[in-house]
Amino acid sequence: MSESRNAAQTGTRHYRPETRLVHGGTLRSQFGETSEALFLTQGYVYDTAEQCAARFANTDPGYIYSRFSNPTVSMFEQRMIELEGAEAARSTATGMAAVTTAILAPLRAGDHVVAAKAMFGSCRFVVEDLLPRYGITSTLVDGLNLDDWQKAMRPNTKTLFLESPTNPTLEVLDIAEIAKIAHKGGARLIVDNVFATPIWQSPLSLGADVVVYSATKHIDGQGRCLGGVILSSNDFIQEHIHNFLRQTGPSMSPFNAWVLLKGLETLGVRVRQQTENAAKVADALAKHPKITKVIYPGRSDHPQAATVKKQMRAGSSLVAFEVKGERAAAFRVLNGLKITRISNNLGDAKSLVTHPTTTTHQRLTPEARAELGITEGMIRFSAGLEHVDDLIEDLHGALEKA
Ligand SMILES: Cc1ncc(COP(=O)(O)O)c(C=O)c1O
Repeated sequence: MSESRNAAQTGTRHYRPETRLVHGGTLRSQFGETSEALFLTQGYVYDTAEQCAARFANTDPGYIYSRFSNPTVSMFEQRMIELEGAEAARSTATGMAAVTTAILAPLRAGDHVVAAKAMFGSCRFVVEDLLPRYGITSTLVDGLNLDDWQKAMRPNTKTLFLESPTNPTLEVLDIAEIAKIAHKGGARLIVDNVFATPIWQSPLSLGADVVVYSATKHIDGQGRCLGGVILSSNDFIQEHIHNFLRQTGPSMSPFNAWVLLKGLETLGVRVRQQTENAAKVADALAKHPKITKVIYPGRSDHPQAATVKKQMRAGSSLVAFEVKGERAAAFRVLNGLKITRISNNLGDAKSLVTHPTTTTHQRLTPEARAELGITEGMIRFSAGLEHVDDLIEDLHGALEKA
């Protein structure tokens, strides 16, 4: 089995996504195994010193060390490449390692980054707190306002970063228009596609240059392991990402890559069912007297419904809603749920609820949260695979206590 890591291996691209999810990137050993093999090895041995030297000189294709190349990890990367329509990919230990690497690796002191204010708290830490320590300035904008993006551009702007739908307010940002602003200014656009999943949104086809995922979410989707992946052009991955990961080492473990490969096989059916459940939960919540607001990208009353239609193939498995009565009422709802569990995670087979103000977005000031529309009464609901009637009854039961 040889190291085959990039666009050369495009085996399933001509098939539909469901087929790519099951077969993309599979490498078989001499034993002809059905399921992808788990190569739980740190390193590799060489037949001769000459072969070893050639491997390091890059003249003999093959694996060297699992910090930067491993057959099981390659299979995961290749399956993601074929699903996303990218040229190349590299995977990381967590989603945050993917976000941090994609943003930081290509930049130098003196560069400037523009990012949408509404984003996951740790991503905001990277942009707002970490980058400036290394002389990289950043401007946060209202991601929905294209003029804001345009006005923030400077001659030294190298990267624009956004997530859409956003965490947790489910705003939908216009990826194609923001990509145009980036490219006009000579910058790249990086999209964190976690909330949309590769099933419902393909940022590269909308003009983005780089896509990042926390594979921890829907790609695993069964609460087992963490992971991340960066997808882009061959040039971007080779020039900026491969060497950074090789030398600094936030690598995905082969075991996690194997779990995630198995996760990809069922990603399509899971995300479809979770989205169907989320849509029904959103409709049920919208009718409830104790709910003041429901935000769901699949509903016609979503504030960016036109953008959803333009760039997403369906809504999302996430719903945000607000209960009357602020934090105490929100906590009573969370504590009253029996099937849906309290967690800061999302995208799981088990339905999960989060109170963003006190968890994922607790590091923001109250003013910053207010600006983003993250209220004390807001709850984020991540739909799982349970029967939707049980989920709705569970929510209704908990709302009685609100
Ligand atoms: C939008 C978004 N991006 C990135 C991450 C980070 O992923 P991980 O937890 O795998 O590091 C998360 C996790 O919560 C997220 O919600």
